[in-house]
Amino acid sequence: MQENREFDIILWGATGFTGKLVAEYLYKTYGNTPDLKWAMAARNTEKLEKVRDEVADDTIPIIIADSKNEQSLIELSKRTKVVCTTVGPYDQYGSLLVKVCVENDCHYCDLTGEVPWMVKMINLYHDMASSKKLKIVHTCGFDSIPSDMGVYFMQQQAKAKTGHYAKQIDMRVKAFKGGISGGTYASLAGMIENAEEDKSIYGILNNPYSLNPEGEQYGPDQKDLQKVVFDKVSDSWNYPFVMAGINTKVVRRSNALMDYEYGKEFRYSESAMTGKGISNRMKATAAAASMAMLMLAKPGTFLKRVVDKKTPKPGEGPSKEERENGFYDMRLYTRLHDDTTVIGKVTGDKDPGYGSTSKMLAEVAIALAKDELSDTYGLLTPSVAMGDALLKRLQDNAGLTFTYDINEST
Ligand SMILES: NC(=O)c1ccc[n+]([C@@H]2O[C@H](COP(=O)([O-])OP(=O)(O)OC[C@H]3O[C@@H](n4cnc5c(N)ncnc54)[C@H](OP(=O)(O)O)[C@@H]3O)[C@@H](O)[C@H]2O)c1
Repeated sequence: MQENREFDIILWGATGFTGKLVAEYLYKTYGNTPDLKWAMAARNTEKLEKVRDEVADDTIPIIIADSKNEQSLIELSKRTKVVCTTVGPYDQYGSLLVKVCVENDCHYCDLTGEVPWMVKMINLYHDMASSKKLKIVHTCGFDSIPSDMGVYFMQQQAKAKTGHYAKQIDMRVKAFKGGISGGTYASLAGMIENAEEDKSIYGILNNPYSLNPEGEQYGPDQKDLQKVVFDKVSDSWNYPFVMAGINTKVVRRSNALMDYEYGKEFRYSESAMTGKGISNRMKATAAAASMAMLMLAKPGTFLKRVVDKKTPKPGEGPSKEERENGFYDMRLYTRLHDDTTVIGKVTGDKDPGYGSTSKMLAEVAIALAKDELSDTYGLLTPSVAMGDALLKRLQDNAGLTFTYDINEST
């Protein structure tokens, strides 16, 4: 049904901080050729033309669509194989787009980390997307591609090398450098605001399995780490990792969607590590405190006003220099079937949230439009939707590395 569409990809939200980076990457890396037909979309013509002048040229078509105008979104989704959206907060602007993509046979990818909104979308559209053979893929940025694809990679390797999937993987962020954008802060603040208005949302945020299919929202894992601890797995002080609440649920959904290929008892956790000794304990405590500030900045509080002042506004984010100098390094402590452990590693160049995220999202959109993918459909995780094809793209084009055993690699 997707044959003869005018475009392979329409990037919606190209005027935003992250959308502009995605457009820049697509143009620099793939240009405008018949091999990849893409267009830039946003709600404001003047702004969109200005961004196009800055990052591409006028051979890239532009399209106007507003989240409040359903007809504009229908037209968007009918013209392309894939809509790639950076228009967020997604809970605020994204629901109608998911609906029209499913109704008009269009694949979809985004950068959301808003778990309650994802639950809503799964409940509304998973079955229809699945029966229409569409891939609708959330969390295609730093949350949750390195985690989800890192686990996928380790499990494929473990199976190939030992004949069994691993029993447990504990991801520990060893180091990262990067900042936050106004859109990301608005999405986080929006989620907390919604949860304060409707306390049942905390139930979704606190359930480790809330992204699993209905009736399967249980398993051996507990809530993510909430405080500073000395972690035996990594032999290091650990503090809560800000993305764990999203990533761990995505990894568990991947296992569920694959009919529990890793086993119903498979366990997964995430936190961030600083090292041994008193100074690293203090570092972990300081990092945990700044994360707690973000989470405790509830609507109407003095803390919220302080945090609002210190964080970027929509459209703003880390500078080019900060993005270029950013990186991340994550370790995957992988307990194999015989209880031995291998330590895997996932790294990315550029800052996680924007420099690296924009490349990951663009490669996802291309994979959905161009690659030969599995016949699994519905509201999927990145690894279930794209598996090996995405793993290859991330390593070949997007600056990520995946290593199975760091003790054996140089
Ligand atoms: N998962 C990750 O790793 C990751 C990383 C980065 C970003 N994100 C997420 O991506 C989203 C975007 O972040 P950002 O910092 O790029 O945000 P941003 O700079 O505020 O950009 C938001 C975009 O949405 C557009 N928009 C707003 N209201 C709209 C409407 N009614 N109709 C159509 N378009 C509308 C804006 O258009 P105008 O320019 O006209 O205002 C802009 O293009 C956020 O939800 C953020 O959490 C996730």
